[in-house]
Amino acid sequence: MSSPLRFDGKVVIVTGAGGGLGKAYSLFFASRGASVVVNDLGTITDASADIVVNEITSKGGKAVANYDSVEFGDKIVETAIKAFGKIDIVLNNAGILRDKSFTRMTDADWDIIQAVHVKGSYKVAKAAWDYMTKQGFGRIINTASAAGIYGNFGQANYSAAKLGLFGFSNTLAREGARKNVYTNTIAPLAASKMTETIMPPEILASLKPEFVVPLVAYLCHDSCKENGSIFEVGAGFVSKLRWERSRGVVFKADSSFTPSAVARRIGEIKDFKDPVYPTSIMDTDWVGLLEQAKQLKTNEQAGDLSFKDRVV
Ligand code: NAI
Repeated sequence: MSSPLRFDGKVVIVTGAGGGLGKAYSLFFASRGASVVVNDLGTITDASADIVVNEITSKGGKAVANYDSVEFGDKIVETAIKAFGKIDIVLNNAGILRDKSFTRMTDADWDIIQAVHVKGSYKVAKAAWDYMTKQGFGRIINTASAAGIYGNFGQANYSAAKLGLFGFSNTLAREGARKNVYTNTIAPLAASKMTETIMPPEILASLKPEFVVPLVAYLCHDSCKENGSIFEVGAGFVSKLRWERSRGVVFKADSSFTPSAVARRIGEIKDFKDPVYPTSIMDTDWVGLLEQAKQLKTNEQAGDLSFKDRVV
């Protein structure tokens, strides 16, 4: 059996760690030797982060609580620096829901979701970034959602934020790669305060937050070189997603390239028989495509709609 992955000497920030997934991450990383900043919003009556910290320290682990909103992520990183002198791993996990059909959604519903998920993840990562790049090690996990990947009724605000975080991760992955600062995204599924109202009890029972932890811990380990990926994870299932692009159609870039020309070849445009799997902006050869387009006869000559029939 291989030896367990350890995190001795590492400093981890877990946002939204008073319960749910964040609590499970905190307990696990502390049990494997890391020092943990347990962040949650909390109030005077809600000492959820302290409860998690006590659970860790009572077992001999190292942890401190922080009650700043992730919108002030610099303060959370400051807590890590003050308590432990550095920051190695950021788990951007804090989250809220403001579900409403798009018809009923207000600007306030939209703004708060973007503030907590997108700005919050940005603020923590931004404050940690220089420490990570200077020390030549960093791991960041951003938390997306299947609702962002596939869409979900009543979650236009949340979906936008969650898939936005995937784009955010992908750029951080590129900018951090040379400095051994790797960023990945997860779309988890777990029973928690957030999901207990929207899932039946028998399903919730098989969705322990602990079943999301192994993937997250693996992605954060020194030995893991995964960067810029997105995984779906929950109930013991772990799967990676990627982009798939059809071969597509090259039209001549002139006035014969009309909506009707697209309509005629939409079957080919949507044909995934022989797909490609782009992983970067450079995977689209625009110069080559332009050359191909130049070589083409006009679509009209090639049998497409006549210019006269063009739908403008
Ligand atoms: P949860 O509701 O149990 O935990 C979220 C925690 O974030 C709460 O303790 C809350 O107090 C804290 N929080 C909220 N706003 C905050 C802020 N501004 N600053 C600091 N802390 C704040 O939720 P759960 O299920 O553990 O979710 C964790 C993450 O996973 C969230 O980002 C959520 O959107 C995402 N997610 C969860 C899914 C699930 O099935 N549980 C599905 C898809 C995504």
